[in-house]
Amino acid sequence: MPRPDTLQLGALLHGSGGHIAGWRYPGAHAAGELDFPFTARLAKTLEDGGFSAIFIADVVAVWGHQLDSLHRTARADFFEPFTLLSALSSVTDRIGLVATATTSYNEPYTVARKLASLDHLSHGRAGWNVVTSVVPLEAANFGRDAHYGHEERYVRAAEFVDVVEGLWDSYADDAVIRDKTSGIYFDRAGRRALDHDGAHFKVAGPLNIARPPQGWPVIFQAGASETGRAFAARYGEVIFTAPRTLLDARDYRTALDAQIRASGRDPGDVRVWPLLSPIVADTDAEAQEALATLGSLVHEDVLRRIVQDNFGDEDFSDLDLDEPLPDFGADTDRSQSRRAGILALAREEGLTLRQLGVRFAAANAVAGSPATIADRLVDWHASGAVDGFNVSFPYLPQTADRFVGEVLPLLAERGVFRPPAPGTLREQLGLPRPARTAVPA
Ligand SMILES: Cc1cc2nc3c(=O)[nH]c(=O)nc-3n(C[C@H](O)[C@H](O)[C@H](O)COP(=O)(O)O)c2cc1C
Repeated sequence: MPRPDTLQLGALLHGSGGHIAGWRYPGAHAAGELDFPFTARLAKTLEDGGFSAIFIADVVAVWGHQLDSLHRTARADFFEPFTLLSALSSVTDRIGLVATATTSYNEPYTVARKLASLDHLSHGRAGWNVVTSVVPLEAANFGRDAHYGHEERYVRAAEFVDVVEGLWDSYADDAVIRDKTSGIYFDRAGRRALDHDGAHFKVAGPLNIARPPQGWPVIFQAGASETGRAFAARYGEVIFTAPRTLLDARDYRTALDAQIRASGRDPGDVRVWPLLSPIVADTDAEAQEALATLGSLVHEDVLRRIVQDNFGDEDFSDLDLDEPLPDFGADTDRSQSRRAGILALAREEGLTLRQLGVRFAAANAVAGSPATIADRLVDWHASGAVDGFNVSFPYLPQTADRFVGEVLPLLAERGVFRPPAPGTLREQLGLPRPARTAVPA
């Protein structure tokens, strides 16, 4: 299908804001998503503003194990995504609901069932952010001494997604007829078992719920390494990225499109949404001031750990915050792309550990007046490298309210944004509905 001609928007909601010190910002709501009426109001604001999706990130552990920094962040305190999204489905009508579920510490039957349930509950608004777990600490909560290695995680993930998609196809779209006259609830011919027996999973099926309204809930993914990108090209329908520059975004799109074609898919069936963390104020200077205030609210212990946690297994406890990062190698079993990004920043801009920490805490924040932020998004849209943005609001509710109230009208005026027509999440994003796969011979 053709790629959209206007920007699509998803909102990444995580705890009390995307900036690690967002919960401390003057006037911000420190409890964030854990206050359900607050989150429900935020979801309505985003829906009314024309966002296509709310996306809940997740790790199945406390996010960090060093108490010196952890107890100064909101990262030990967040909702389980399906629970929160199910609740949000009943207070919203149009916005997509995207849950993160890891393929490393779940069973495919459970994930297929939860997503199918959310899709039915929301009349076709469910999406799945497929992750392989970036936080190694999760292993210890699921009976393992160590996290799966990077390559192994993706092999397991591929089998996991194949099984989930197979389970969603347990019933034909028209199999559940509920015919009172004949007394037939479902058509036997329209149902099949899966009988999957693979390297990681053995799943008989069928699933215990009718085919989801969207056929398959929309698959979101954020593969960035070579293996991760190949996975995204094969399965992903919306790809989250975190490019440092527009040039990086263009390179990523070109490489991804080639891989999508190599997987036998059409690049027009895949959307790419880079991360955007907007801080909107009346003037550029005031927005920069807000960004500086946020930076000043990050404790030194947190600055050190935030770089370390994204980097790898090295211990940064004894490193001087005001010295450049030592030249560690590029190899890691953790996120290779994040490590490479940190190394590149450290090398190219000669940043100290403190400066890296401030940058990381801000998650690439763009601070400016509504016009400055709109100009930036118009440039990105014109590049053709992106289909929309995955917007992470640094602190809440101010950054969300101002983005919706002041930036979106400017984008609409300039013809690069319009609220999506009502429909399933797939329809809103212009993605094809998967036909039920043929029964394997
Ligand atoms: C915007 C965005 C959101 C992500 N959300 C999660 C998440 O909720 N849970 C998780 O374990 N990983 C998350 N990731 C990490 C990705 O799943 C992936 O592991 C990472 O981009 C590194 O790519 P790689 O696995 O190819 O090295 C996210 C990545 C991005 C860019």
